[in-house]
Amino acid sequence: MATVIAPVGERVETCSLENYLVLPDKSMDARIRAARQALGDRVVVLGHHYQRDEVIRFADFRGDSYKLSQESGRTKADYVVFCGVHFMAESADVLGQSGQQVILPDLNAGCSMADMAEIGQVEAAWEEFVKAGLTNEQGQGITPLTYMNSTAAIKAFCGERGGLVCTSSNAGAAFKWAFARNEKIFFLPDQHLGRNTAYAMGIPLEDCVVWDPFKVLGGLTPEQLRAAKVILWKGHCSVHQRFLPEHVDRVREKYPDIRVIVHPECRWEVCQKADGIGSTEGLIKMIKDAPAGSKFAVGTEIHLVNRMGKEFAPENKKVITLDDSGCLCTTMFRISPQHLCWTLENLVEGQVVNRIQVPDDVKHWAKVALDRMLEVR
Ligand code: 13P
Ligand code: SF4
Repeated sequence: MATVIAPVGERVETCSLENYLVLPDKSMDARIRAARQALGDRVVVLGHHYQRDEVIRFADFRGDSYKLSQESGRTKADYVVFCGVHFMAESADVLGQSGQQVILPDLNAGCSMADMAEIGQVEAAWEEFVKAGLTNEQGQGITPLTYMNSTAAIKAFCGERGGLVCTSSNAGAAFKWAFARNEKIFFLPDQHLGRNTAYAMGIPLEDCVVWDPFKVLGGLTPEQLRAAKVILWKGHCSVHQRFLPEHVDRVREKYPDIRVIVHPECRWEVCQKADGIGSTEGLIKMIKDAPAGSKFAVGTEIHLVNRMGKEFAPENKKVITLDDSGCLCTTMFRISPQHLCWTLENLVEGQVVNRIQVPDDVKHWAKVALDRMLEVR
């Protein structure tokens, strides 16, 4: 069918994405606003802090992944348009009301860290743990704990085996919950968040081992596996792993009174040199609570850092990136105003595009694991 892009207010026969992608950003604002108005409270737009300004300004709620999953569990809107990445939209579908539809404006907005753990590999690792006598199938022996940044299938895997999900803002509480059940934790997929959290609880580095899914027995000996308190999956965030200890030294040399604050997906060596560690929401709070005139170098995604730089400037607070070359999350960046406009205008036309739907069997156990996450704080 022919595709027509009509001015706001006129009927669009079929809203084809290609026609939107050629339009300039500035032409999207009025159309997004008009579509929002037409949809009223049937739609809620959620936006992660790493989204670009041209998109996040249309979010009804902005937050880190913990706050947004709380919000997706609360909203009664028919449609949840999630300006974030795939695993966040999946979680919103799991936590949402029945009949609600979750939409990800660009299906290519994934997460390279989440892609580093595939359910088949995780099941194969667990089988090895069972064979080695470290746990039984049901998780009596090891508590599986997955970071929010993972597929719904992995969340379900953890839920079914007595485990749970955490985000960077409640990882410490989730570790305590997990250790109250077993002496060992299997943490995936971010080795850095796992190591940083364990270390902050007083677990020495040598008690954490890294499971490499591409090596026989994860590249470990049976003795190493038996002795470990935490088995970390070999995954990382390509954005946060780029920050290095020398970036901390360099920025301190240039601004001796600067405070360095970083996301816990950064390497252990970077976190050790920092003055504070926090989830995206936690980092914002640290700056908000600081006295006027404070200076911060922040180790996290560049859109959030630049936004904080602008928002806190009137309070005379300086906010800069820890590394001058700035780290962009290319998948978060995929959500453009054009994609958002396309999604909303299709909804106005009664068409749901890019729906994210977790299969029912996966949903059940993923919800168990996510509900546990929302209970521990
Ligand atoms: P937050 O839990 O801080 O929102 O982190 C999500 C994420 O993907 C960070 O890279
Ligand atoms: Fe994934 Fe890293 Fe992007 Fe977060 S910043 S969504 S962990 S790739």
